[in-house]
Amino acid sequence: MTRQPLRLAILEAERILSAAGVGSPRVDAELIAAHVLGVERSRLPMVPLVDPPVVDAIGQLVAQRAKRVPLQHLTGWAAMGAISVGVGPGVFVPRPETELLLAWGLPVIADVTKPVVVDLCTGTGVLALALANERPDATVHAVELDPVALAWARQNAELAAQNGDTPIKLYAGDVTDPQILSDVDGTVDLVLCNPPYVPDGTEVPPEVAEHDPKMAVFGGTDGLDVIRPVVAAAARLLKPGGGVAIEHDDTHRYSVTELLAARRVLTDVQDHVDLAGRPRFSTARRGS
Ligand SMILES: C[S@@+](CC[C@H](N)C(=O)[O-])C[C@H]1O[C@@H](n2cnc3c(N)ncnc32)[C@H](O)[C@@H]1O
Repeated sequence: MTRQPLRLAILEAERILSAAGVGSPRVDAELIAAHVLGVERSRLPMVPLVDPPVVDAIGQLVAQRAKRVPLQHLTGWAAMGAISVGVGPGVFVPRPETELLLAWGLPVIADVTKPVVVDLCTGTGVLALALANERPDATVHAVELDPVALAWARQNAELAAQNGDTPIKLYAGDVTDPQILSDVDGTVDLVLCNPPYVPDGTEVPPEVAEHDPKMAVFGGTDGLDVIRPVVAAAARLLKPGGGVAIEHDDTHRYSVTELLAARRVLTDVQDHVDLAGRPRFSTARRGS
C-alpha cells in the first residue's frame, strides 16, 4: 500500500471542484480533506502522506461536492461564532454573513443582566444557540415553522444543553402570526431574524436550489412577505432600548429600513453591508 502526498490529493480535488463551478474550490478541497482526516484545516500541512483509503474517501466526497451538494451536508456541521450545529437534508445551511447579526446583537445586550432574546425563523437554531452560548444568563426564545427544520433545531439544542449551554426555548410557530410570542410582548432586549428573503423567481446556485428548503429561501414576489410581519412583531416584542436586526436580500437596502422607520416606536434605523460590501441587514432600536 503506497502512501501518497496529501498535497497532490488536494490539488486534484481543487481541479475537479473548480471544473464543476464550485465557488471556493481550494477551501472546499482542504475542508473535505480535513474532515476525512479528522483534523483542523490549519493542521493539514502536518500530514504530508496519506494512505490510499484516505485518498479514496476524499475522492468520494469531492465527487459529491462536484455535484453541488453543500459542503456542510458532507461534513455534517456549520459554524456560527464559537459554536457549530448539525446540518443536513431538509434544513437551511447557516451562512457566514449571518454571523454579522450575532456580532451586532451581542453589544446591544452587553450591559443587560439576564437579557431576553428572540430568534425568529431559527432553522437549525444556530443564532439562538450561539447567543445562549455567549450569554448563559439569557433567556432565548426561538421560533420555526417547518417541522423538519424544527427537528434539526431540537437535536442541536439538546446537544448544546448536554454540553453545558443554557437550554433555549424552541417553539413551532409562524412568525407572520400577529400573536407570535405575545406572552413576552414588551420584555425583549434583542430580536434577531434571518428570514426567507430572496424574491420569488430569482436564480440561485444549485446548492441552494436543490438543497435548501424553498420556504427557507424565497420570500414572495418582492422577498418581503415574512419580513413585513417580522418588523411588526419586533416593534411589539421589544422593550425600550431593545434592538432588532433583520437579514435581507441585497436588493432590500431601502425597503427594510423603510419598513422599520414606518414603526413610530422604532428609532435609530440603519442598514449594514456584509463582508463583500453588499447591503445585508437592517437594524433598529426601540425608543423609550
Ligand atoms: C434563511 S433560513 C434561516 C435559518 C437560520 N436562522 C439561519 O440563519 O441559518 C429561514 C428559516 O425560516 C423558516 N421560516 C420560513 N417561513 C417561516 C415562518 N412564516 N415562520 C417561522 N419560520 C419560518 C424556514 O423554515 C427557515 O428555517
